[in-house]
Amino acid sequence: MIDMPKVGVIGTGRLGGMIVRGLARAGAVPAESMIIQNRTGEKALKLAREIPGIKVASTPGEVLREAGITFLCVKPQDLAGLLRQTGTRVPGDKLLVSTLLVPYLSRMEQIISGPLARVYPAVVQETGRGVALAAFGRDVPEGRREELKSLMSAFGMTLEIPENLFRLCGDITSCGPAFMAYMIGSLARVAARRGLDPALARQAALETMAATASLLAQKDLGFDSLVDLVATPGGCTAEGIKVLAGGLDEMVDRVFSATEHREAEIDKQLTGL
Ligand SMILES: NC(=O)c1ccc[n+]([C@@H]2O[C@H](COP(=O)([O-])OP(=O)(O)OC[C@H]3O[C@@H](n4cnc5c(N)ncnc54)[C@H](OP(=O)(O)O)[C@@H]3O)[C@@H](O)[C@H]2O)c1
Repeated sequence: MIDMPKVGVIGTGRLGGMIVRGLARAGAVPAESMIIQNRTGEKALKLAREIPGIKVASTPGEVLREAGITFLCVKPQDLAGLLRQTGTRVPGDKLLVSTLLVPYLSRMEQIISGPLARVYPAVVQETGRGVALAAFGRDVPEGRREELKSLMSAFGMTLEIPENLFRLCGDITSCGPAFMAYMIGSLARVAARRGLDPALARQAALETMAATASLLAQKDLGFDSLVDLVATPGGCTAEGIKVLAGGLDEMVDRVFSATEHREAEIDKQLTGL
């Protein structure tokens, strides 16, 4: 078991809150070894009431000074303001972990000196499952890498991949939960529109989605193998699959292009860095 340094979280919104709760629930670090801070102080205080023992700092600089590993969980447009408060130097024995969509590490390293990493988690990881992406900057000692990966294992799987694949893989892991919910939700919505009770349609879709994921994992099936298993030739499912095959991949391709385009726009809008 790795001896963990103090863990800090700056920005206790949806994602920062998920990280704090995930670490506490898994016992990855004792509450007394966590220090948090949020621009609207009451949000951090509320989280500290939920998890007694956590220290609430009065400034983000205090978090950076006290924690060995700090998760930065503010929105990209708030980064410049935050750095005006904290300065741009991370001591060599610490690690600053950005969860921000942008800027990428290569740009962060031009602005901030010291050990940097980037993780791209998913809100579904509050269940203890799900996938986060991780990439490390050039100055990160091996020990700190292992500590971060060990912390991240408190809320699911972490894939270390080149940062230029974050957008594409993030469309599966991070935006994916929304895309999957929308697609499965479509089965329930259309069934309800055609007369099924909406609550029953939701329950049927939810349970079937969970069972499908279980079967794929338990039998280590490929997606196409599961389709073949259900879609017997000449049957109803096969007819439905023909309709999906007529355009779903092209639509998903457009979804990926849309997220890529939006990420580039958000990056362009980053000012003051
Ligand atoms: N949500 C997701 O699914 C997800 C997934 C992967 C990555 N991310 C990334 O995670 C980051 C946070 O997203 P989110 O959904 O958690 O947003 P959020 O709910 O708006 O949380 C951001 C938090 O940062 C706080 N903040 C802003 N400036 C600050 C400062 N100078 N000092 C301290 N705290 C400050 C905000 O405080 P206030 O209360 O004052 O607004 C807010 O509580 C984003 O960069 C996003 O790209 C999110």
